[in-house]
Amino acid sequence: MKELFMPTRVILGKGCVKENASLFAEFGQKACIITGKTSAQKSGALADITETLTSQHIAYTIFDEVENNPSVATCFRGGQKAKAYGADFVIAIGGGSPMDAAKAVAAFATNDMAPMDIYGTIKKNPLPLLTVPLTAGTGSEVTPYSVLTVEEIENKKSFSHPESFSKIAFLDPGYLESLPRSVLFDTTADALSHALESMLCKRTSDISNVYAEAALRHLGKLIPDVIAGKPDFEKLLFASSLAGMAIAHTGTVVVHSMGYLLTYYNNVPHGRANALLLPGFLKLCAKHVPARVTPVLKAFGAETVEALCGIISQLVDEPVLLTEKEVKTFAKKAISAKNVSQNLWQISEAEEASIYATLQ
Ligand SMILES: [Fe+2]
Repeated sequence: MKELFMPTRVILGKGCVKENASLFAEFGQKACIITGKTSAQKSGALADITETLTSQHIAYTIFDEVENNPSVATCFRGGQKAKAYGADFVIAIGGGSPMDAAKAVAAFATNDMAPMDIYGTIKKNPLPLLTVPLTAGTGSEVTPYSVLTVEEIENKKSFSHPESFSKIAFLDPGYLESLPRSVLFDTTADALSHALESMLCKRTSDISNVYAEAALRHLGKLIPDVIAGKPDFEKLLFASSLAGMAIAHTGTVVVHSMGYLLTYYNNVPHGRANALLLPGFLKLCAKHVPARVTPVLKAFGAETVEALCGIISQLVDEPVLLTEKEVKTFAKKAISAKNVSQNLWQISEAEEASIYATLQ
């Protein structure tokens, strides 16, 4: 069975928030804005959103406590704030952290549940969500996934709900212009990882490949300009959303679940963790499932796996070194991740250790 489900309306272009002000009133009279401390202000996105809401006579409150790699506890607090305020809908402004947090906030706002119940059955539909991405990478604006930090398990863990898809994603490339180079590299690597993992897993289908191959075609052309310091933000946002649409249908595989441990224990930014692990993963793919790697290379426009890995390595702004003990500990933990079963071959703990060991 195959299914195409992409319920997010995507609007792309400079000034798209203010130009589409009338769309906001469809969602109610009270909004809860979810964001972090700085980028929403710096990019001008927060001012655009608040001015738009005011013009539409929509009241709002702001929850700006979302940290990098947000915790379930933070999202629970945001949910209580949205609930107490009587918010009709939620607006996320930011990269993956605020967007993922907003999905949990929207669920906590409509359900009386304890923080960890987010990983059980979510009884009532979350509040409607609108998203304004400030990076091109996460794809969270077009997926139902929310990846949160759970201290109890010392790792990141995802939940999803069919109603957690953003109703509208406003993609304004102007908001990305002040991105630091390292964040641009990390988030571009994340988008690339989504497209690659979507094409290299058991759930890959003709439907998901429409998005993933298109994302790779764009990224193959865009990444050299990112590395050269001349990024095309509009095309990057588009490519990143295409990659997000691909994983909305397939999920990610071991690169992501292995990367979560680098983020949790070693504070490596999410996209960089993927970029660090991708070469080891791709070389194993070439060994176990070479026929699946050929269309990946063709879509990206790379002659060989080594050439693709060379480009990925250029997106790593700062290397990470692991100790032998970390390699062993992380591999032991990562092999129990639920998406290991979606890998194209039965990956072993030793193989995961060999991927981590490329960072020794
Ligand atoms: Fe990701």
